[in-house]
Amino acid sequence: MEFAIKTGKPEKQRAGCVVVGVFDKRRLSPQAEQLDQAANGYLSELLKQGDMDGRAGQQLLLPRVPGITADRVLLVGMGKERELTERGYRQAIHTMHTALAGGGTKDALCYLPTAAIKGRDLAWRIRDAAQNLEALEYRFETCKSKKDDNRPPLKKVVFGASDQTESAAAKTAAAEGKAIGGGMNLARELGNLPGNICTPSYLAEQAHGLGERFTSVSVEVLDEPAMEELGMGSLLSVSRGSREPARLIVMQYRGAAQDEKPYALVGKGITFDTGGISLKPGPGMDEMKFDMCGAASVFGTIQAVAELGLPINLVGIVAAAENMPGGKATKPGDIVTSMSGQTIEILNTDAEGRLVLCDALTYAERFSPRSVVDIATLTGACIIALGHEMHGLMSNNAGLANELLAAGKSAHDRAWELPLGPEYDELLKSNFADMANIGDRSAGTITAGCFLARFTGKFRWAHLDIAGTAWKSGAQKGASGRPVPLLTRYLMDRAGK
Ligand code: BES
Ligand code: MN
Ligand code: ZN
Repeated sequence: MEFAIKTGKPEKQRAGCVVVGVFDKRRLSPQAEQLDQAANGYLSELLKQGDMDGRAGQQLLLPRVPGITADRVLLVGMGKERELTERGYRQAIHTMHTALAGGGTKDALCYLPTAAIKGRDLAWRIRDAAQNLEALEYRFETCKSKKDDNRPPLKKVVFGASDQTESAAAKTAAAEGKAIGGGMNLARELGNLPGNICTPSYLAEQAHGLGERFTSVSVEVLDEPAMEELGMGSLLSVSRGSREPARLIVMQYRGAAQDEKPYALVGKGITFDTGGISLKPGPGMDEMKFDMCGAASVFGTIQAVAELGLPINLVGIVAAAENMPGGKATKPGDIVTSMSGQTIEILNTDAEGRLVLCDALTYAERFSPRSVVDIATLTGACIIALGHEMHGLMSNNAGLANELLAAGKSAHDRAWELPLGPEYDELLKSNFADMANIGDRSAGTITAGCFLARFTGKFRWAHLDIAGTAWKSGAQKGASGRPVPLLTRYLMDRAGK
């Protein structure tokens, strides 16, 4: 989608549709008021008749309104003016998109970002609108022989600004939103692709694609012999049962001086998780194609950061493998040696995410990173704890944890911190190796975090468990593109943007 900013009178603008808010109860927003005056009270007349009262979710599309230059006017219900929240605002943007997409409107002039939300400035409101409109245009059609709908897309949205200074900030914000939305869409596309297409080698090819698209991104892919050489016995134990070889994908973005230490993102890239010999039950197992959504968020964030040209260095490391049963597959009780030298008794082959991540984390040491954030669909227990709203966050550094929590709030892509500590870490004790790969039935998300923490002694580290937030199930089944907004916000904040 294309975005632009325009100043000037709403009634005088050429556009397929001019979009303005109406608040509960029958209160026109300032721009709706301006349109109403130009149209001789036509809009207020409609409200009086009861066609709309401004409740959230309502909309009224009016063609050829007298006195208005735009082809159409769309009134969008915003709820009570004083009570507008981020959620209500996104709903209004969604309502606008639903009303316009697939109709005759190719370009809309949108004034919804002029509405006040507590603690959110105009730049936030425009960034968020652009991000979500970009994401709303996404369809998964790669594997469909016919498109679901052939309706024309909403090509362009112009946001109304009141003056030139506002206009400059708005323009930057729209570009940021577009980059973040595009990053989310890349993450969603990779997530939605089935396991027979999106294999570890496929992810490696996609990384090379990013490297070709951006001169600022360079890519290196380690194959199994290279990982063997490094002693990544833990990561390699996961792909042992699969015909698809594992890959360690390293993407480096350079936006700052060569000697500036990078930020690191480490993604769990299990392209399909059957559970291995500790086989998962059948129902819903298809959703384990989404077990690479952590990796997908690394791809999406790197794309967004490269598009924005942030003045930082960033390294993305993706541990890609397929977890399958097979004649050579790892068995419960097998003991492996990780790259760190620590040995692991694999009591459950379905706790495979931490096994690939621990070696990727050790690999991250070589970059002397400012911080390392791993992103993983790691535990079903995280869904029980936090549901589908917030990511689980664990960290070995309170400062980093707070930066990420703040980024999540700022981007409205929120995380919630869970504790780590020796009381939980003890649950990983093994009689036969340095640690087991699972604890008991309790605190499953935290013991997974404790396991990873054992490989992060050399840097500031945080872990995002996105098991509940990376995709939706049911009729709306599909990858969400989260936490690309949180991660990009975190990096933008570090870059001083
Ligand atoms: N990928 C799963 C976690 C998962 C399950 C995410 C369902 C989203 C929905 C992970 O590899 C896994 O299987 N974890 C096990 C760990 C257990 C064996 C300690 C789990 O959560 O059951
Ligand atoms: Mn698993
Ligand atoms: Zn998994």
